[in-house]
Amino acid sequence: MKTALARLLVIGLALVGAGTAAPAPRQLTLRTDASLDPYPTKPRITFREDGTFKITVFSDLHYGENPWDAWGPQQDVNSTALMKRVLADETPDYVVLNGDLITGENTFRQNSTSLIDEIVAPLNAVKIPFSSTHGNHDNEPNITHYEEIIREQEVAPLSYTRLAPPGVGGYGGPGNYWVPVYQKVTDSTPVLILWFFDSRGGFSPGVNSTAMPDWVDSTVATWIQTETAAMNAAWGPAKNRGALAFVHIPPHVIQPLQATLNSTRDPGLNADILGEGSTQATTDPANAGKDDDFWNTLNSEVKNLHAVISGHDHGNEWCIREPTKNVIFCFDKHSGYGGYSSAGWDHGVRNIVFPSPEPTNGLDTWIRLENGTTRARVTLDGSYLR
Ligand SMILES: *[C@@H]1O[C@H](CO)[C@@H](O)[C@H](O)[C@H]1NC(C)=O
Ligand SMILES: *[C@@H]1O[C@H](CO)[C@@H](O)[C@H](O)[C@H]1NC(C)=O
Ligand SMILES: *[C@@H]1O[C@H](CO)[C@@H](O)[C@H](O)[C@H]1NC(C)=O
Ligand SMILES: *[C@@H]1O[C@H](CO)[C@@H](O)[C@H](O)[C@H]1NC(C)=O
Ligand SMILES: *[C@@H]1O[C@H](CO)[C@@H](O)[C@H](O)[C@H]1NC(C)=O
Ligand SMILES: *[C@@H]1O[C@H](CO)[C@@H](O)[C@H](O)[C@H]1NC(C)=O
Repeated sequence: MKTALARLLVIGLALVGAGTAAPAPRQLTLRTDASLDPYPTKPRITFREDGTFKITVFSDLHYGENPWDAWGPQQDVNSTALMKRVLADETPDYVVLNGDLITGENTFRQNSTSLIDEIVAPLNAVKIPFSSTHGNHDNEPNITHYEEIIREQEVAPLSYTRLAPPGVGGYGGPGNYWVPVYQKVTDSTPVLILWFFDSRGGFSPGVNSTAMPDWVDSTVATWIQTETAAMNAAWGPAKNRGALAFVHIPPHVIQPLQATLNSTRDPGLNADILGEGSTQATTDPANAGKDDDFWNTLNSEVKNLHAVISGHDHGNEWCIREPTKNVIFCFDKHSGYGGYSSAGWDHGVRNIVFPSPEPTNGLDTWIRLENGTTRARVTLDGSYLR
């Protein structure tokens, strides 16, 4: 019953999104409430007393492969062990699950969201706040982004994942939201905004499933404008806040930059040659540039954007500065034992540490493998890659 309703809702949202070829500008309703708090019932996310803030990113966990075999469930046992070990060692202040939580191709309609319970169990156990983006494998005939979000909200008390307002996100892409981070719990305005975007992809739910758009919908661009305007009205100028963005599929502008990598300057595994479908709106050449509205608006409206962080391409770990927008992009680290891999790629996480709440200070980031080895450490600041 719940899943049937969820599907109806998804289709309802899809129709709203799909009907707007060129998005009508949304009514700009400025909220002047200085608290502007989307989480009134949850603990505030804050920097530590020493002024730092640490995020650990698990990406491409790919739970639920081949439940009818031995190796699929064993992969998930391994992935859960990795999560437990990393969480115990790293004790981050916030965790991001950056898409492809589930390999939806292999799941069953009647129980696919129970994989969410497995995935969030290690996070529930350590009581670390977190939120998720969703990937192309999270939209399949037997699972949708919408269903995963609703389930996560039901079973994870410290999930900060939210649905975008109706009409925002387009077909299959309801997971667009932001999370405020405060210096101190009593502060009236946040010093950092974490943005999360839904790059959709995969396939529509049900029988006669068809391919979904694989980019952040242009309705999200309009929504970024209304949200940033509301923030400026409530909290004052955007320059007072830092920002960091997460989206599962990299923006398409990243694709040609792979040829310009310098392994000294841009360290990290570079084993996944980007091609068709590796970045947004590249699966079908007819869709070229469809993520431009999102990308242009993100970079014009969101100030002090430290970096944009994506998963999706399991063999890549590097960061690079995107020269036209002058913004840094970083890949995650493939965390799950599920999903495609290759000898020597290993599994791990990306750690990100803000050294202070000052919104323009550079942040430190590196890859941590399951066994504790670290590599590809860089400081993302004004000097990086210039
Ligand atoms: C879902 O049901 C199938 C078929 O009964 C079973 O093989 C699978 O293990 C179940 N998956 C989960 C996550 O419970
Ligand atoms: C699980 O991890 C062990 C090492 O701890 C490895 O030998 C095994 O191949 C992994 N199993 C799967 C199915 O990934
Ligand atoms: C979806 O679930 C149904 C019912 O559990 C199952 O028969 C079907 O094979 C699943 N579809 C896929 C693509 O796995
Ligand atoms: C799926 O497609 C088949 C063949 O076109 C059609 O007969 C069937 O009614 C469709 N099912 C649904 C639920 O749309
Ligand atoms: C690569 O980067 C390093 C460190 O910034 C620099 O010294 C070197 O000249 C660069 N190599 C090339 C080929 O640009
Ligand atoms: C951890 O794994 C990496 C990659 O497999 C390996 O190079 C490194 O030696 C390992 N470190 C330890 C401490 O086992």
